[in-house]
Amino acid sequence: MQHSFAIGDSKLDLWVGDITTQTTDAIVSAANALLLGGGGVDGAIHRAAGPELLDACKALKKTLPGGVLRTGGAVITPAFKLAAKHVIHCVGPIYDREGPEAPELLSSCYREALAIARERALGSITFPSIATGVYGYPVDDAAPIALGTVIDELRAHGRPQLVRFSLFDATIFNVYRRAGEALLR
Ligand code: APR
Repeated sequence: MQHSFAIGDSKLDLWVGDITTQTTDAIVSAANALLLGGGGVDGAIHRAAGPELLDACKALKKTLPGGVLRTGGAVITPAFKLAAKHVIHCVGPIYDREGPEAPELLSSCYREALAIARERALGSITFPSIATGVYGYPVDDAAPIALGTVIDELRAHGRPQLVRFSLFDATIFNVYRRAGEALLR
């Protein structure tokens, strides 16, 4: 299943599948503040990248205030054994904890990841559905925030050329597709 939207000269792609197989310049991990791996998509990416990814995260932690990545923040590492060249690690909001701040913190993940992609002149990036698993963000609420932020950033900056979402099942894909259609109507 796939669905594409044109945003100026860029393409916004929705796919169903495992993000670790993506060959875009960067893939994004839905990490936690400790940046030491975990379950879900973070665990899948660490398993596929190999142990060097954890070593790179540990080295990066030393440069972060308090050794943690703040909610809404993003950092980049190499991708080691993955097909992608880079992993951008984002910390999404824990839905029940962040309350009214949750939408802005979720949007910040996408905005900061895209800013890193532009700084590194990356041509393509693949996101998972950040915060909608363990962190409990309702997909119906998260999808328009995720896509709205990506669309705004692509309209403002025109880059990267390709932004893809690798969604883990058809249900989530359909929520994102409907949200994209509503935003671009
Ligand atoms: N490819 C694409 N999407 C995936 C994959 C995968 N291999 N595995 C899981 N997902 C999907 C989930 O189905 C969900 O839709 O990624 C989305 C995000 O879910 P989580 O991985 O649970 O991430 P999140 O909700 O942000 O919670 C982050 O979970 O794994 C830990 O270390 C992580 O503590 C952090 C927390």
